[in-house]
Amino acid sequence: MTAPGPSILAAVAGVPRFRRSELGGFRRGWKDHGDLYRIKMGRRDLWVCSHPALMHEVLVAGRDVWGRIERMPNGSPFGLSLVLNDSVLTTDGDEWQWRRRLVNPVFHRPRVEAMAGTMIDCGRQMMDRLDAAAVAGTTIDLLLEMKRVTQDIISRTMFSSDVAADADRIGEAVDESIQYAARRSRAFVNVPLSWPTPAARRFVRAQGVRDELIYRTIAERRAGADGGDDLLGVLLNSVDEETGHRLSDEQIRNEVATVYGAGHETTANALAWAWHELIRHRAVEQRLQLEVDGVDIETVRVEHLPFARKVFDETLRYRPPVPVNGRFARQPTRLGGHEVEAGAIALLVVNNVHRHPDFWERPDQFDPERFTPDRVAARDRFAWLPFGAGPHLCVGNHFATMEGVLLLAMMASRFTFEPMSRLPRHPALAVTMKPQGGLPVRVVRRA
Ligand code: HEM
Repeated sequence: MTAPGPSILAAVAGVPRFRRSELGGFRRGWKDHGDLYRIKMGRRDLWVCSHPALMHEVLVAGRDVWGRIERMPNGSPFGLSLVLNDSVLTTDGDEWQWRRRLVNPVFHRPRVEAMAGTMIDCGRQMMDRLDAAAVAGTTIDLLLEMKRVTQDIISRTMFSSDVAADADRIGEAVDESIQYAARRSRAFVNVPLSWPTPAARRFVRAQGVRDELIYRTIAERRAGADGGDDLLGVLLNSVDEETGHRLSDEQIRNEVATVYGAGHETTANALAWAWHELIRHRAVEQRLQLEVDGVDIETVRVEHLPFARKVFDETLRYRPPVPVNGRFARQPTRLGGHEVEAGAIALLVVNNVHRHPDFWERPDQFDPERFTPDRVAARDRFAWLPFGAGPHLCVGNHFATMEGVLLLAMMASRFTFEPMSRLPRHPALAVTMKPQGGLPVRVVRRA
């Protein structure tokens, strides 16, 4: 079968538009060429996938054929592995399996449920900050505020450490590193990593800020009496059964940086998008207020908040924090009935799948009622995959859902938000998707 796709000329002509808005570019490509099309990029083929069946074919059925794209076939780091080195998020095969086994128990449902109290505690501090802003009448960036609270939660639950004093500094360092890695991944040509360009120097500095804090936390914990049973404790105490080896500080740093990075920015973006939509759909906000006014917000659990859960799930459909994922073919294979060469990349455009008209009615409308249990059960499982699918399914999915729903409910119980400028129409994409320019709002106490 001949694969559909733009001609070389059309693909090159489309580059400027694509650079302005990648997600817009993928959407246009989908409309023009369909659920699966091929772009020739030099010697490498890029297969752009926008259908649930293709998500299944690559992530589940093809798990042994399609590998992570964080290492190029020549072994050089790509994308997130520039920032995180080897970790549970960037490795594959045996290298990944032992890491995933190590972190899995920390994310089992009962352990995550026991973290609700800490999440609510951190949420309370965030509410105090919002309250102060409401009284002072100042404008705040809700995206930044969501990052603060999710950073606080991830540090306290996973590393029993309080990053409040350093939160903004680390936040900036992580942002700087991810932007750099995202820019390099998109560029057609890159100078070697070792060249001291201004961007490379900023990147190295940002990594230094992050590492200093992580190594300090590891050293403090090692000096203490026992390792503890949070993620940091699990990493420090783990001993390889066969070799008796413990993890090096560098290996621990990579996992800590991964869970810190993967575990706060995504949820923060989701919460900012949820408020972005609630501001645009006041009737949905009122429905949410009705629900949260009927519960005790200090002791509430996700099961008591079915509507807040629907709002969160619909936000993850409408604005998936990880809108594009990728894999590369380790060997020749087939995809959607086409022959695919080894080394080809499958780009999984989750953002398009979440708007596929065969699976979603009026896909461009924000509507939490899509997530009633009946409608969820009737839908193709691979039409909604904000947390991915297959063996690399997000290990933090219960954690993120609980955190997102609880924080949303807490905020809705006391505040509403007025946008201070026109709401940002375009998302910014650097691995994760967030509102371009943040979300400047005025905080208003509910009557
Ligand atoms: C709304 C919030 C979140 C979203 C949308 C999200 C999304 C994702 C996605 C799409 C993947 C799969 C990547 C792939 O297949 O290549 C992933 C993996 C991962 N996520 Fe999340 N995530 C969220 C929250 C979290 C949280 C809270 C944590 C930790 C506390 C976390 C830790 C991880 C880790 C460690 C992996 C790698 C899993 C593996 O490859 O075995 N994530 N996430």
